[in-house]
Amino acid sequence: MKNIKAIIFDAYGTLFDVNSAAEKCKDKIGKKWESFADYWRITQLEYTWLRSLMNRHENFWKITEDSLDKSMNVFDIEKSMRKELLNLYKKLSTFDEVPKTLISLKKKNYKLGILSNGTTKLLEQLVKKNGLENLFDDIFSIEEVGIYKPDPRVYEIPVRKYQIKKNEVMFLSANTWDVSGGGNYGYNSIWLNRNKNIFDNLDYKPKKEIKNLNELNNLV
Ligand code: LAC
Repeated sequence: MKNIKAIIFDAYGTLFDVNSAAEKCKDKIGKKWESFADYWRITQLEYTWLRSLMNRHENFWKITEDSLDKSMNVFDIEKSMRKELLNLYKKLSTFDEVPKTLISLKKKNYKLGILSNGTTKLLEQLVKKNGLENLFDDIFSIEEVGIYKPDPRVYEIPVRKYQIKKNEVMFLSANTWDVSGGGNYGYNSIWLNRNKNIFDNLDYKPKKEIKNLNELNNLV
């Protein structure tokens, strides 16, 4: 991993804790809050893949709403929770180590960017809410190419913007399939494995596996 010029982060699940919205409602949802949160997340991702394959693109907010509606039905969650859950999703918190890690990386000489399925507006809101607005050089949204990860056109966005080679990008994601997507494209993909998960069989194994983002400081 020599000659890294840009460090690019996935957003949802990597920088921002997607389960934190349902977790904040756990008193109202009850014990099933975590299964419900996982189901919402996987349905949301399935809709990104299915819409990409069907050639029927809708933005990530619409997909987040549609997947929430299905999940609320499946888990029999009171309709009155919808607005609250969606508002919380716009204000997801970062994982604890994220701000500190970004501050120390910012002192080194890399481009720092986010590359995400989210719309630019959603991502800017999250970055601002968590006080990270001066830390990123760019926020790249898949809306620029109108198709979701792991389509290679998505991973090409920062390479085109910075006029660098694919292997000059270090890509960080907690989502195994996203690590593979970026790696298959040509990035040096690093898997952020916070929860001792098992990796996928998708023709790519991560260049490195870390448990916590602050381990990045030892890699670059
Ligand atoms: C994203 C999803 C994959 O932020 O987490 O792109």
